[in-house]
Amino acid sequence: MLLSKKQLFDIPDEVAYLNTAYMSPLMHSVVSAMDEGVRLKARPWTLTIDHFFDDVENAKALFGQVVNAHADRISVVPSASYGLSTAANNLSLNEGQRIIALKHQFPSHTYPWKRKAREAGGVFVEVDVSQGAAATPALLQAIDERTAIVAVPNVLWTTGAYVDLIAMRQRCDEVGAALVLDLTQSAGALVTDFEKIRPDFAAVANYKWMLCPYSTGFLYVDPAYFDGKPLEEGWITRKGARNFARLTENPETFEAGAIRYDMGERANFALLPGVNRALRQLIDWDIEIIETTLAARNAELCHRLDAIGLKTVNAKNRGAHFIGAQLPNGTRSDLLTELAKEKVYLSMRNGSLRITPHLWNDAQDFDRLIHALSRLI
Ligand SMILES: Cc1ncc(COP(=O)(O)O)c(C=O)c1O
Repeated sequence: MLLSKKQLFDIPDEVAYLNTAYMSPLMHSVVSAMDEGVRLKARPWTLTIDHFFDDVENAKALFGQVVNAHADRISVVPSASYGLSTAANNLSLNEGQRIIALKHQFPSHTYPWKRKAREAGGVFVEVDVSQGAAATPALLQAIDERTAIVAVPNVLWTTGAYVDLIAMRQRCDEVGAALVLDLTQSAGALVTDFEKIRPDFAAVANYKWMLCPYSTGFLYVDPAYFDGKPLEEGWITRKGARNFARLTENPETFEAGAIRYDMGERANFALLPGVNRALRQLIDWDIEIIETTLAARNAELCHRLDAIGLKTVNAKNRGAHFIGAQLPNGTRSDLLTELAKEKVYLSMRNGSLRITPHLWNDAQDFDRLIHALSRLI
């Protein structure tokens, strides 16, 4: 178990910020790393060719450590939507074949699949899991020989409903389907082992549980797609790119691995040092210990929330780090605004109250949440 890390963040004592599912705060150390990074561009004569490569390579290696994958399978992307659109463009779907997803998934992980189904004459199937119910069996039942792609998260962004990704992989193998993941609401907080899950593609936007700056993310790519088609025709991803003076003489050939899917201007001097600092801290804390710490605190918090009249999702059906709760009938519609007046911050998605604390929270934050909610509901 880890103790509260509030002192590492810029969070005043009177603020109870319990909204990682929306946007995590940055650590002081991450802000400092980004500050140094942004100053490089203020003095471009201090930039070297290595600055275009080293932080990118470090970021891939560090993310690889977080998800147990080799760095050559990782590409740098600006958002989950970028990664998931890349995946959709590189998977085949025949007429009549199905793409299986959860109902109310985040739109970055539905729009590419809706378009794909429309264009190929396929079917986009959304499996409806009511709040509190188990998502894994419902998905397993929906996957059959007609399924070409299973496009799911590890944890649903509204209720926190948990999807067993190893079970998804096994079922995909049985029916010959590809597995595409959006891990934005889980990577960094739940143990994620790509050696075991073997996704075809997996995208992560970094600004939530990865504790990184906005507009950064990663895409994991299985080697089967190393010769696929990227969204952009980048130049820095090709053989010979280190020689800036002779770029036009380079072959079109990409460097080996997932690098072809890297976004244009991937060497973001301002943001990448912050990404690397945050990932080093997560690795240092250890993802498994982060998960068990958040799980234990959330289990206790759920008891307290249930005791004051909320209905939280049973621990076995939700991500350990993520609380989705139903409010009692008749709860005031301005609840979040009233909570914010008391400097307690949560979010509501599709009627589910999201309570997503992290290591910066402490016992005082939880007490303030419970007292404020008891008064307001
Ligand atoms: C599950 C999930 N995926 C992705 C995103 C962000 O998507 P993008 O990076 O495409 O803006 C969010 C933001 O709330 C999310 O909850």
